[in-house]
Amino acid sequence: MTRVIYLKAGGGYDNVFLGNQDISNPMNDEAQIRLHASSLNYHDYAVVSGVWGPSEQRIPMADGAGEVIKVGGAVKELKVGDHVCTTFFPGWLDGSPNVQGFETVPGDGIDGYARELVNLQAGSLTLAPDQWTHEQSATLTTAGLTAWRALFEDYDLKEKHTVLIQGTGGVSIFALQFAKSIGAKVIATSSSDEKIKKLKALGADYCINYKKNSKWSEEILSFTKGQGVDHVIEVGGPETLDESINSVKVGGHISVIGILSGLQGNLDFVNALLKQVTLQGILVGSRAQQERMITYINQTKLFPIIDRVFELEDIVSAFQYQETNQHFGKICLKI
Ligand SMILES: NC(=O)c1ccc[n+]([C@@H]2O[C@H](COP(=O)([O-])OP(=O)(O)OC[C@H]3O[C@@H](n4cnc5c(N)ncnc54)[C@H](OP(=O)(O)O)[C@@H]3O)[C@@H](O)[C@H]2O)c1
Repeated sequence: MTRVIYLKAGGGYDNVFLGNQDISNPMNDEAQIRLHASSLNYHDYAVVSGVWGPSEQRIPMADGAGEVIKVGGAVKELKVGDHVCTTFFPGWLDGSPNVQGFETVPGDGIDGYARELVNLQAGSLTLAPDQWTHEQSATLTTAGLTAWRALFEDYDLKEKHTVLIQGTGGVSIFALQFAKSIGAKVIATSSSDEKIKKLKALGADYCINYKKNSKWSEEILSFTKGQGVDHVIEVGGPETLDESINSVKVGGHISVIGILSGLQGNLDFVNALLKQVTLQGILVGSRAQQERMITYINQTKLFPIIDRVFELEDIVSAFQYQETNQHFGKICLKI
């Protein structure tokens, strides 16, 4: 019997409860993982809080990290004792996107990782970074990979480029760290002067408080001498996209990632075409992209920024804390 957090159909904090689950031995092509950590993403928040509650009872959480404790007879790529990360799309191993929605995503369409033990297809896992703790590794499946893909898979970020990041959540702080690791310039926005101090400590070259200046594109154009930025990590959504298009250079690239300000809005079409901007929608990434990211992390000795760690049983408190937007970087669960 192992401990599990369940979320009743429809979601909502009152529908979260602790239970137990039997676990069988892994099948021939599976590994059994003792999960040690997960991390919170906006998507998990939407599922657990009931904004996009599940249609049936579900084990929440898309991110998982832990140790292999058993392997099936046919498993070649993993051995007992390996530290591993789960993948956001267990069936998207490599190549162009082959997924459209969340039906196969752990913690949403299928059961996720708010539990101690799980049997998974060994081929859907990746090794964790060499020097990272389980909590650090649990930040990669969603936030880390999304930032990585936006900068280095769908774009070819170089030292000469300037990137705009928005807010100080998981995706944005990973994007800041990855961009600074190759020497690119980073402009960052935040709602808080306190968080801006932390952004600067991490190497952000120029920061703007978007609560004090809602027309932040003017400041960005001024900082970039009228040129605009090369690339935007767009997590704000409807309330920020026009400002992002104003901020980007002619022929620039915007990774359309987040919906923090809502699901729908108006777009200044004329500005978009005058700027000849590329708007690239992103939905996390593939296992192969996750492997390339982890190889890079092992080479660069980069470590994630974790704001707070909660116990698995305190999952509701963790989401209530995320809801306040006080966090800087990632919030983790220790399992
Ligand atoms: N498409 C994908 O593959 C993908 C993957 C991961 C996440 N996402 C999306 O990306 C967004 C961020 O996710 P996350 O997990 O990084 O979130 P998170 O860790 O919860 O980050 C939230 C932070 O964003 C900032 N923020 C809040 N409202 C904002 C707004 N209206 N405009 C600009 N910044 C705002 C706040 O930072 P400050 O207080 O510093 O402003 C807040 O602390 C979410 O919409 C999420 O669904 C998409």
